[in-house]
Amino acid sequence: MSSPTASTPQDQPSSAHTLTELAAITSGAGMWESTELPGEIRALVLSDGPHGVRRQPQAGGDNLGIGNSLPATCFPPAVALGSSWNRRLITRIGEALGTEARALGVDVLLGPGLNIKRSPLGGRNFEYLSEDPYVSGRLAGAMVTGIQSRGVAATPKHFAVNNQETDRMRVDAQVDEVTLREIYLRGFEIVVTEHHPWAIMTSYNKVNGTYASEHPWLLTEVLRDEWGFDGLVMSDWSAISDRVAAVAAGCDLEMPPTHTDEVIVGAVRAGELDIAALELVRERLKTLADRTEPSEDTPTEIPWDTHHDLAREAAGESIILLQNNGALPLQPDTLQRIAVIGEFATNPRIQAGGSSRVNPARLVTPLDALREAIGSEVEITAVQGYSATGDSDRQTQRRLHDEALTSIAGADVAIIFLAQPRGSESEGFDRSHLRLPEAQLELLHDIAATSTQLIAVLGGGGVLELDEVTSSSDAVLASWLLGQAGGGAIADVLTGTVNPSGRLSETIPHRLEDNSSYLHFPGRERRVIHGEGRYVGYRSYDALNAPVAFPFGFGLGYTTFTLSDLAINQTGPLSWEVDVAVTNTGAASGAHVVQLYLTGPARAGEIAVHELRGFDKIHLEPGETTTVTLPLVRRDLARWNITEQQWIVEPGKYTIEVGSHSRDLPLLAHLETDGDTYLSAIDEWSTVAEWAANPLGAELIEEIRAKLPEHFAAEAEELKGMLLQLPMVKFSTWPIGPEQSRIQHIVARVAARRTGLARDDED
Ligand code: BGC
Repeated sequence: MSSPTASTPQDQPSSAHTLTELAAITSGAGMWESTELPGEIRALVLSDGPHGVRRQPQAGGDNLGIGNSLPATCFPPAVALGSSWNRRLITRIGEALGTEARALGVDVLLGPGLNIKRSPLGGRNFEYLSEDPYVSGRLAGAMVTGIQSRGVAATPKHFAVNNQETDRMRVDAQVDEVTLREIYLRGFEIVVTEHHPWAIMTSYNKVNGTYASEHPWLLTEVLRDEWGFDGLVMSDWSAISDRVAAVAAGCDLEMPPTHTDEVIVGAVRAGELDIAALELVRERLKTLADRTEPSEDTPTEIPWDTHHDLAREAAGESIILLQNNGALPLQPDTLQRIAVIGEFATNPRIQAGGSSRVNPARLVTPLDALREAIGSEVEITAVQGYSATGDSDRQTQRRLHDEALTSIAGADVAIIFLAQPRGSESEGFDRSHLRLPEAQLELLHDIAATSTQLIAVLGGGGVLELDEVTSSSDAVLASWLLGQAGGGAIADVLTGTVNPSGRLSETIPHRLEDNSSYLHFPGRERRVIHGEGRYVGYRSYDALNAPVAFPFGFGLGYTTFTLSDLAINQTGPLSWEVDVAVTNTGAASGAHVVQLYLTGPARAGEIAVHELRGFDKIHLEPGETTTVTLPLVRRDLARWNITEQQWIVEPGKYTIEVGSHSRDLPLLAHLETDGDTYLSAIDEWSTVAEWAANPLGAELIEEIRAKLPEHFAAEAEELKGMLLQLPMVKFSTWPIGPEQSRIQHIVARVAARRTGLARDDED
């Protein structure tokens, strides 16, 4: 206990609690518990994670995914859910997660994860939703809404710029402000401002020189002051190196406790930490406890069957049909024997390694589910084909290979399950390549050389280089990591019970080297420079018009859709509705994801590129047409303006493209806007071009141009390129005739005011 007599008045708590008590609540009481504030705030229970509840009931526990946890439904991890593009579905998963968390005594669930998949190598990409912040923010937000509807706090993570596992505890993620705002923070901003999570988790890394957990700009200025976050900020597990700096920066809770409370007490006594910061923690922790107080009628039974069915439905919506020459769906009446090949058919990878690992309540394998779906009329044989851990010796590999080839003799169709080996993807390290193991590829080629139809079912938490797979197979399914009910979902899609409607939320490149982060990932000497800027994922492939294996947003189904009748209706000064008619032109009912991309006016020094600004997944019966309405609001058009330090809609022409993926956007329209009625903060060092881009500055430039001396005007065309890049302060020193003194006067006034060019500056 602190001794109040030793304290000065400034370090006295204003509440009824002692300094020691207040210091204690700024860190957890154990691995999964916050510290109780006697008589005021109960201890809260925290648990991973994003795709299932990882509740470790015993004292201690671990955040590595190695120790036991209570059984829970293992829903599809984010890599799969991100491919569903279905917000309502994800909200339902959130509700189920909330229900299970409550039943297992958990107040705070540590998810969803929504870092950007900057590189396909990211070891934790399986826990994240997309390479695009709009998709990430919308889908993560849907999950937050679902979880919190059950009185359990969601904890979006890892805030921020945690896009790699290599060196994650030390690396300094260096990223320019526009990229930071528009790519790496944008998803979090959507979640915070529109879905109001009650907690948020920091990341391990530094952001531009300061640890995220100790970052006042990130945790207070941006998160709270700008976005209005009113919840609790907790550290990632053991992320804090300076606990005093963390509390001062706005990180309320250190998890788990790794520093003594004396550090905080001492800092307050020494006047290095304002006790008001501890009172703030108390208020925020209390708010969290109040928000998550279990109600009398909270159900304590988990509806296991319903949740398993939901996991299967979600897995089915997340599978992507990448290629199909008619081999799918299977037509059991025309088949006598199906040869299933590969250990992953009987021993599937349903999730990956690390803190998100759930102890699944059930497990259905693809082979069992397929047998059940197809019935006994068709014979289904199954062989191991290769070792799932990829470590069999050459002799065993040969035996498994030959056995597989023998098994397809006389089969009508072979279904091969392919994935990188078990243990290849986890929290804590990145992948080093995107290739399938040689043993699997060899088998694939040898089967392809026979006349048996070949269907490849790809598993795993990240994208792979697929050219050899697509050229060898009649049909290809991306089935990711699908959770405990994934086997059933794969059978549903193979047999056509479910019409695949998953869409890529991450581009599949031909080669790893084609990815824009390739030359900068994962950095060195404890720094990673985000040198590709905002050209992440499809933004780079599409800006370069580079060939890709499968574009962002891509996915086939067992029916076809056409889009028509694009119409833009202005609904306010800076808001519109974009209508598009969608028709199911095929013979099967199914779902389609309508996607809207926007390209704004080109900014100096930037290559313009379209960016996703709207999507909706709709279900249609054959022949049915419906109109999808996608809203566009001011923020969808706005870009981050460094000088203004705000989001600005530039005046000009915006292109709207609507279609089915980033390379198939047949509908196109434009809208013109005056943008925000603002004066950009032109200063004396702004270039002539920047002055010209400003409504009032443009008038002045136009006047100057009209009054240029003749000899100057004659050369003006030649000089244009140079002139445009000239800062005004320099331009005003040029011999430009009668206007020179007036320009100098205006420039001087602007320099003095630094608030922008106003009309009264012109006299
Ligand atoms: C992970 C977090 C996780 C925490 C608790 C950390 O290693 O980065 O995502 O929530 O452990 O398990």
